[in-house]
Amino acid sequence: MERLQKVMAQRGVASRRKSEELITSGRVKVNGEVVKELGTKVSDKDIIEVDNVLVEKEDKEYYLLYKPRGCISSTKDDKNRITVVDLINTNKRIFPIGRLDYDTTGVLLLTNDGDFANIIMHPNNKIEKVYLAKIEGILKKEDINQLKEGIALEEKTVKANKVKLKKYDLEKNTSLVEITIQEGLNHQVKRMFSALGYSVMKLTRKRVGIFTLEGLHSKEYRKLTPKEVQIIYSYKED
Ligand code: URA
Repeated sequence: MERLQKVMAQRGVASRRKSEELITSGRVKVNGEVVKELGTKVSDKDIIEVDNVLVEKEDKEYYLLYKPRGCISSTKDDKNRITVVDLINTNKRIFPIGRLDYDTTGVLLLTNDGDFANIIMHPNNKIEKVYLAKIEGILKKEDINQLKEGIALEEKTVKANKVKLKKYDLEKNTSLVEITIQEGLNHQVKRMFSALGYSVMKLTRKRVGIFTLEGLHSKEYRKLTPKEVQIIYSYKED
């Protein structure tokens, strides 16, 4: 048994908060009866309706996409640009878990399972994201230390768990840096480098937790295996 608003959110009706509003405003029926109490619990067998429309159970889908450049990480775009969801052949209402910038490539997970997405995104689960950044300039030792000690961004101070200078080119004045972070603030990697005076020319996400780009080319995707989904669910505390 789970809370009605949670089940509604899982089935893609609306966010949990919005679902609570729908319940308290009397627009939700369980087994034909209007339910206005937020504590109500339901099982898979209960019939849920919103505005007299049946809320169906949707099979869960999980994808790992090698996001190419030139597409946006959302479900729709007002400027009609290609979205990451357009690249996946499904009729389910999937959404990307977190965001990669328009020009960033690499690992992006998509699903219609809100719980799964929350586990990946929740800071307590400390899921590592590994990026390869080509930056303008030769990364100094003291700046590597600074990235690891903390960079004050507008919202908070963030740290890199690991920073590796993989290569540098004195003639072109560029460096290739592998940086591992745990949070997922908007444009976090670019902003961390920018705070130290480096601009990011190219950015690829190589890994999110257990998920890498292995076996995929740009624009390709695969379904997660049941085992992979199970591993992520095992991080859940409750
Ligand atoms: N950090 C960035 O700056 N951009 C991304 O797309 C992801 C992380």
